[in-house]
Amino acid sequence: MPGAIRIDIVTALPALVEEPLQHSILKRAQEAEVATLHVHDLRGYATGKHRQIDDRPYGGGGGMVLKPEPLFRAVEAIEEDVGAADDIIYLTPDGDRLDQPMANGFSMQDHLILIAGHYKGIDQRVRDALVSREVSIGDVVLSGGELPALMLVDAIVRLVPGALGDSASALTDAFQDGLLGAPVYTRPAEFRGREVPSVLRSGDHRAIARWRDEKRLEKTRDRRPDLLPDTTDSLEASS
Ligand code: ADE
Repeated sequence: MPGAIRIDIVTALPALVEEPLQHSILKRAQEAEVATLHVHDLRGYATGKHRQIDDRPYGGGGGMVLKPEPLFRAVEAIEEDVGAADDIIYLTPDGDRLDQPMANGFSMQDHLILIAGHYKGIDQRVRDALVSREVSIGDVVLSGGELPALMLVDAIVRLVPGALGDSASALTDAFQDGLLGAPVYTRPAEFRGREVPSVLRSGDHRAIARWRDEKRLEKTRDRRPDLLPDTTDSLEASS
C-alpha cells in the first residue's frame, strides 16, 4: 500500500516489545495495512552453544555490551529479506532528542530498523558501520532501548495516513505547530461544582477556535516559553 511503513525492531527482550504493538492505534494501523511491525529476537541471530549476545567491555568496567555479530546478522537478514532500510536507528540516551519534527520525518520513510540496546550499550562498531541515526527519548537513562523504541514506533505510526480513524487529528496535535494543546472537556457539563467553559458549549465555532488559540498560547507561555519565538506571531496575526 502506498504510504505504508515497515518497522523492524531488533531486541534482546522481544516479549517486552510485542504486546504493546497489539493495542489501540498500533493494532489498528497494522489491521489497516498502513504499518507492518516486526519484532526480532537478537538471540535468534547468535551462534555457538550458548547463543551469547553480550560480553564484558574491553578495558573493564561494569555492565555488559551487546556483541557486534548478532546485531550485524539480524540487520543483514532483514535487509536481505525486504531490501535496504531507509534508516537504521539506535535508541540511546546520547542520541538526538526525539521531537515532533523528527517523528514527522521518520513517518515519511518506507522502512526503518530500530535497534534496542542494553543500558551499557552496543559495540561501537555497530554504531559506526550500521547505524544511520541515534535517537534519545530524553535526558534520562532507562534500563534498555525497548521502551524508547516503542515510544518512537507509536510517535511515527500514528502519523502515517490511515492509522488514525480521524485523519485530521494528527495534524491538530499539540506540537504539530509548535504549541501545547488547549484544555479539553467532555460530558457532563458540570462535575463536582466545576463547569465546562461556556464558550465550548456555545456552538460558536469562531469563538471556540479563538478561545483554543488563546489557551494554547497561554499554556505554552507558561510552561514552555522556549517553544514560542517563531509561532507566536503567526497565530496572533491570524486571530
Ligand atoms: N536507552 C536507555 N535510555 C534511553 C533514552 N533516554 N533514550 C533512548 N534509548 C535509551
